Amino acid sequence: MVRSEVAYQKCISPACGATYDVGEAHVACTKCGDLLDVRYDWDRAAPPDDLRYFEQMWSQRSDPTRFSGVWRFHELLPFARREDAVTIGEGQTLLQQADEVARYAGLNPGRLFLQYEGMNPSGSFKDNGMSGAFTHARSIGAKQAACASTGNTSASLAMYCSVTQLMKAIIFIGSGKIAYGKLSQGLDYGALTVQIEGDFDDAMVRVKEVCRDLGIYLVNSVNPFRLEGQKTIMFRVLEGLGWEPPDWIVVPGGNLGNSSAFGKAFSELAELGLIERIPRLAVINAAGADTLYQLYETRGVRWQGGHGDMNLVTEYYREMDEQAKKASTLASAIEINRPVNLRKCLRALEVCNGVVRQVSDQDIMDAKAKVGAGGIGCEPASAASVAGTKLLRDEGIIGADDRVACILTGHLLKDPTATVAYHAADQEQFDRVLGSRGVRRASFANRPVLVPNNLDEIIKAIKLHN
Ligand code: F0G
Repeated sequence: MVRSEVAYQKCISPACGATYDVGEAHVACTKCGDLLDVRYDWDRAAPPDDLRYFEQMWSQRSDPTRFSGVWRFHELLPFARREDAVTIGEGQTLLQQADEVARYAGLNPGRLFLQYEGMNPSGSFKDNGMSGAFTHARSIGAKQAACASTGNTSASLAMYCSVTQLMKAIIFIGSGKIAYGKLSQGLDYGALTVQIEGDFDDAMVRVKEVCRDLGIYLVNSVNPFRLEGQKTIMFRVLEGLGWEPPDWIVVPGGNLGNSSAFGKAFSELAELGLIERIPRLAVINAAGADTLYQLYETRGVRWQGGHGDMNLVTEYYREMDEQAKKASTLASAIEINRPVNLRKCLRALEVCNGVVRQVSDQDIMDAKAKVGAGGIGCEPASAASVAGTKLLRDEGIIGADDRVACILTGHLLKDPTATVAYHAADQEQFDRVLGSRGVRRASFANRPVLVPNNLDEIIKAIKLHN
């Protein structure tokens, strides 16, 4: 293990501030239990003084660490030597201008961009973080890794294990809460898949206990090295916009790792003088999994430099328990009750002058259909970002001419069940998959046309529907 000269871990609580070497693996501060950050001594790390520096990396793509959309920004996450970085080619993603989607959301043409993180090897943004976690895990010699997951983290972990053969994967999933595309990945990649009775939050509690007792490396987003990788999503958004920060970043919120990582990315870029303006951040909950919304917008919980009143959170969780309130949304990726990165997300909302909104499953499915029709497509949770943009536009908080980047976190093919139920004309299927979640209409359904196996009838049908 090479000790880092420039990086260390630090508790995010200003009242504690305990520090740890990067050669240690922690998922919380051992002194006070708060979350940990990876921090850098920037004077020693000496990052570039202009983001355009990173454009040189495009000509060095034969080097896997420069090909990687994570590690070509190594200078901004230098917790390991670049030669020691683990990559399977993550981060080759696209920022697509999507004018049809802009029109739907009420934005002017040229103002809405979709950041397609579904183009990652395992089909979701998680690979950005997994390459960070694997780099750290390898440096400390970990042999087994585990996570609790609503499906994408587990698919990513399983893929990194199967491709790199560096560790064995153990994945914990709740019962019946995982989309088939994601479950099939974990199984096919050969991960030990433990399905426990309960939901994601139950699985999260258990996996922490198991990792503690068996000395297994935990790759959920409480692992601060995961979030270092996820910062690079913002670097690529900036890159796609010619290094000019957008007005808004809109992201779905589940366990709140992404929003936390984005806030950290922007505060570091501002601290280093690499950007002059920090975009505003909108975190979008599904209405059926609205913990952050309730805490931030209804109860007024704030970071306040780390001194905000967290009793409000304890109180809210107690009420949830009393009322047996459980998250329930079609956007199964973000069906989460107690987001583990809550405190870091509150910090990000402060840094980015953020807002939080909730959107219904109906709005999510309609936005998803619009994304598919006007872009490359996404899974339900990802479409919360577009539904949230439309809502904030309707409220006048986002202006028609604001430049907005919506993060599409997962690939369309992750959850074919929801998509087919929306478009197909099968009422029974619609009711079972979508109606049970309160979706009433398939406003933008592209119905398959049923025709007899007869050339004249087929031609007639095409003419009728064309
Ligand atoms: N979108 C997708 C497609 C996700 O899979 C997740 C989280 C999120 C959004 C929320 O991101 O947690 O950073 O706020 N999926 C996790 C998983 C929980 O287990 O795959 P977040």
